[in-house]
Amino acid sequence: MVQWQVAAASSLRLKMALLSLAISLLDHQATRRLGRILGQSLPAGSTVLLEGNLGTGKTTLVQGIGEGLGIREPIVSPTFTLINEYTEGRLPLYHLDLYRLQAEEIESIYPEIYWEGVEVPPGITAIEWAQRLLYKPSNYLDIQLDHAVERGRQANILLVGEGNFDLGILNSEFRIPT
Ligand SMILES: Nc1ncnc2c1ncn2[C@@H]1O[C@H](COP(=O)(O)OP(=O)(O)OP(=O)(O)O)[C@@H](O)[C@H]1O
Ligand SMILES: [Mg+2]
Repeated sequence: MVQWQVAAASSLRLKMALLSLAISLLDHQATRRLGRILGQSLPAGSTVLLEGNLGTGKTTLVQGIGEGLGIREPIVSPTFTLINEYTEGRLPLYHLDLYRLQAEEIESIYPEIYWEGVEVPPGITAIEWAQRLLYKPSNYLDIQLDHAVERGRQANILLVGEGNFDLGILNSEFRIPT
């Protein structure tokens, strides 16, 4: 009986977990704030897949993640270096940018070693142009950034798999006042 109640309570909690969220980011500081909250709250082993056209704020968001992790070193786009690793924060940050890579090149950099966290310490893996990945981790946060019609950017956020993260944190931070 007790076991049934526990199961019922936890399945209720699962059903109530917020799995997707659309938010407005009115300026670059809002994009950075979104990243900062993620950097403060995502657990080790999290992967953030960033999708969106040129200049939609992917690097800005990763800079915010770095700030939230407590990384003081400037976070620069790894467009040419492909992968930048930062180890001074709460967790390591692995920042990848697939923009310039062909499919076979993406395969050859083994992006999975970052999200599997076996060969490297588990941290946060943030991947720009993630739509180019040939395969994805089983759990990840998908963030699609788009230019908003009027001002700033729109972020569509989706929790895929059994992420150990509650999008509700973002919902309360970015809720549009009514
Ligand atoms: N919410 C926002 N509103 C307006 N401007 C923003 C917003 N977020 C970021 N920006 C600005 O958009 C520009 C491009 O940002 P950023 O370099 O982060 O984009 P990106 O998606 O990484 O680009 P790329 O596709 O070249 O990698 C920067 O000037 C940044 O300050
Ligand atoms: Mg970028």
